[in-house]
Amino acid sequence: MDASAIPAQPVLPFEAIPEVTLPPDYPTSLPTFWAQLATAQGPIFRRRLPPGMAQHLGTDWVIYLVGPEANRFVLHTQREAFSHDRGWTPQIGEVFDRGLLNTDDPAHAAQRRMMNPAFAIAYMHRYLPLMRQVIAEYTADWVARGTVDIYDEMRKITFGIAAEALVGIHTGERADRLRTLFYTLLYGEFSEETLDDFMATRDELRRLILTIIAERRQHPTDDILGILVQARDADGQVFTDEEIIGQVEILLVAGHETTTTLSSWVLMQLASSAEYRERIRAEIATALGHHGGALTLDAVREMATLSRCIDETGRLYSPVGLVPRGVVRAVDFAGYHIPAGTQLRLVLAGGHRLPRVFADPERFDPERFAPPRDEEKQTPYSLVTFGGGQRICIGINFAQVEVKALVALLLPQFDLIPDPQHPPIHAYFGLTAAIPNGMPMQVLPVTAEL
Ligand code: HEM
Repeated sequence: MDASAIPAQPVLPFEAIPEVTLPPDYPTSLPTFWAQLATAQGPIFRRRLPPGMAQHLGTDWVIYLVGPEANRFVLHTQREAFSHDRGWTPQIGEVFDRGLLNTDDPAHAAQRRMMNPAFAIAYMHRYLPLMRQVIAEYTADWVARGTVDIYDEMRKITFGIAAEALVGIHTGERADRLRTLFYTLLYGEFSEETLDDFMATRDELRRLILTIIAERRQHPTDDILGILVQARDADGQVFTDEEIIGQVEILLVAGHETTTTLSSWVLMQLASSAEYRERIRAEIATALGHHGGALTLDAVREMATLSRCIDETGRLYSPVGLVPRGVVRAVDFAGYHIPAGTQLRLVLAGGHRLPRVFADPERFDPERFAPPRDEEKQTPYSLVTFGGGQRICIGINFAQVEVKALVALLLPQFDLIPDPQHPPIHAYFGLTAAIPNGMPMQVLPVTAEL
């Protein structure tokens, strides 16, 4: 039959997209809420924004897309229709300058090419020893303290590792100051009255990073800042100081909050599952045994069960719940018209709980990623904890090696016992996940086998 004889499905207008209101418990129900809605009604929704937010974003509506087909559409096939700048900058731009995350092509592509070498898996050799060192240092007093808040501890460790790997500063006054300034900007509550304090903090952070940039220009190093300082694009252009400040700030934001929640939940899962804890302890012992007892990159890469536990934790507790985009070219998706000028949110965390993609999706079941099930391989773009396509997280190798190093160093030493009176809460107050009430655990030394 002549294909042109089949009448094309009419595309429904924007006004026909199903409208949603978010439930009061949205911060804690976000992944399940979107998965259930998408299962019942399809992959596309729109929400009318409250007036303040509408003014800030310059549109009255936000469109939400959920599921692997939507992920592929936004992250891959139609990615040029969606602006990272117009999505991310309204979220983070008031605090931090522009970096890789919120820059569009072609500038982004040139920057990414310059930065890629520092994030390649082979380059992780360079960071593993410093990861080991920071982890050992921050956990040395855990047993003596008896109980620690794992969420707080993970934040300190991941920030320490990011500060060291990115800008080459470890402990001492400068690292403490960097941390204080950065946390104040990220978590501080500023109002109109305290705008001056905010600006002063922001300026001091920029001056501190500028001082470190000047040192690196004099004495290049092989941390990421050293690489940024020396990088040249195809035309021989280098990054300006201003551009480097933006890149460093964005790397610190993107690189430590996400790894903090993911590593906290991985430790929680392993504290709660004797089966996986013991399997992974055995796996760690075997892998270290193959490498003379040292936690090398090859040893880390051998830990397949641990990898699957991390993937499964990332699926259930996705550190980035939604990724924002500004629609710059009108597109049609799932039979609906999406006009240019609207804001869009791709709900990564909702797609991770779809029962048509992941069997029994609310269950922690790392074996779903093992053959023959290989659930994530059955459907392209189903597991998108780190995004996907050309703009997949540049820090994916870094984060995965870091979380594996954490578990491989902590699990053989400590028994972590969750406090049943304080179950941790997985919540999204914005685009990324948080654990608002912390994650206290009792720490006991692993008793040597007799
Ligand atoms: C568990 C840890 C992490 C998770 C779950 C995560 C997740 C993500 C996701 C979902 C994106 C895509 C955003 C989008 O499409 O708009 C992304 C991008 C990005 N991430 Fe990560 N990330 C993690 C760790 C890191 C680390 C350790 C770094 C750096 C040291 C990093 C730096 C970045 C940057 C710079 C981008 C933007 C890349 C681009 O647009 O070219 N992330 N990340």
